[in-house]
Amino acid sequence: MPEQSSQPELMEKVVNLCKRRGFVFPSAEIYGGFRSTYDYGPLGVLMLRNVREAWWRSMVQMRDDVVGIEAAILSSPKIWEASGHLGAGFADTLVDCRNCNERFREDHLEDPHTCPNCGAKDSFTEGRAFNLMFKTFVGPVETDASTAYLRPETAQGMFVNFLNVLNSTRKKPPFGIAQIGKSFRNEITPGNFVFRTREFEQMEMEYFVPPDEGPKWYEYWCQERFNWYVEHGIPKDKLRLRPHDADELSHYSAGTSDVEFEFPFGWGELEGIAQRTDFDLKQHAEHSGEKLEYFDQASGERYVPYVIEPAAGATRTMMTFLLAAYTEDEVGGEARTVLRLDHRLAPYKVAVLPLSKKDTLTPVAREVLQLLQPHFMTEYDETQSIGRRYRRQDEIGTPFCVTVDFETLEDRAVTIRDRDSLEQERVPIEKLVEELRGRLTP
Ligand code: GAP
Repeated sequence: MPEQSSQPELMEKVVNLCKRRGFVFPSAEIYGGFRSTYDYGPLGVLMLRNVREAWWRSMVQMRDDVVGIEAAILSSPKIWEASGHLGAGFADTLVDCRNCNERFREDHLEDPHTCPNCGAKDSFTEGRAFNLMFKTFVGPVETDASTAYLRPETAQGMFVNFLNVLNSTRKKPPFGIAQIGKSFRNEITPGNFVFRTREFEQMEMEYFVPPDEGPKWYEYWCQERFNWYVEHGIPKDKLRLRPHDADELSHYSAGTSDVEFEFPFGWGELEGIAQRTDFDLKQHAEHSGEKLEYFDQASGERYVPYVIEPAAGATRTMMTFLLAAYTEDEVGGEARTVLRLDHRLAPYKVAVLPLSKKDTLTPVAREVLQLLQPHFMTEYDETQSIGRRYRRQDEIGTPFCVTVDFETLEDRAVTIRDRDSLEQERVPIEKLVEELRGRLTP
């Protein structure tokens, strides 16, 4: 039976695979790296696109009550004053040890009297609020008036465009606005690979509902989002839905549940589903002077919608899919590593492999490649032995390998090899696209 790799080593193995095969590289590595930032390599970009696409498909494409936007990353301080992010709600309290000069997050200290680094007693400075937003300046002069922020969440883009979307689409509650994009937080303790980084990608949706329907839709989205991870290949016993305690709630939330995954370092948040009530729309209405409400022409009804927000991280989710898919097993007495990724998430769907690098095989193998390219993300590989090439494709999660051999020259048929069952079947080239389409999860 295939076995999930044991937990303490799993993280290290996945991080190594990511580097070796080109999923994720430490950023600016030739300069020694740069402060927990990461670059996505040839396989990482493909997989990240697939994660986004899987989310978008279920949150936007398959529904008629959700539309998408892409708002600017550079944003006005006015947005963050209104949302509360410029205030204490989005700041961590830092203390320094006067003895060893180490800096700590106050809420991470087990004992407020003892420095965990040097053991000094009552050596901490007064706590200082540290806002997590990245500040920059628009234009050549660095003044208060030219200050802008890199958004710390994509969510506010949906609130400030609420009226634009309402007026341009004629949607009525319950309806949602979805967005995928980068967010930035000056995290004090980034770490665990791409689990917590300062630059990351979010997939968020604000679902606007009549106020009395808030609890119903909150339950609905908690279940929907939990199921999404299961449907995309994360074992149910590695997931849980955890309601927040009152002291954990964000400044805007009347109730939040996290979808959590059992990471090698413990349970961690994948996504938060929050009841943001009418907090954001009311704040922006007050600060902007615009009426951010829904008005029903027919009934004359007027109200500020409540909001349910499923907020996920694309980069964190990609890492989670990799951890959940990483498996080691044996084929014919030989160890192999295989990423049992859901087909939809796999970087390449098919690899075309000529049995050997022979002049006679190359033209037909390239013909097969060109046949598949318009339909599937396809890799072509003619280096090394066929066994090693299969291993390589298993290791990056490619669901199907198509082998072109000398018989192909006679019968115009190729062999399809299945990543998971390892079964091989011969298929005429002219039926190949249809056959692969039938096998791949749509
Ligand atoms: N709009 C609500 C919001 O931003 P959040 O719980 O702070 O809520 C939502 O973030 C999701 O974004 C998290 O569940 C996580 O997946 C991802 N995320 C947040 N901070 C992150 C970070 N520093 N690095 C990577 N992903 C992060």
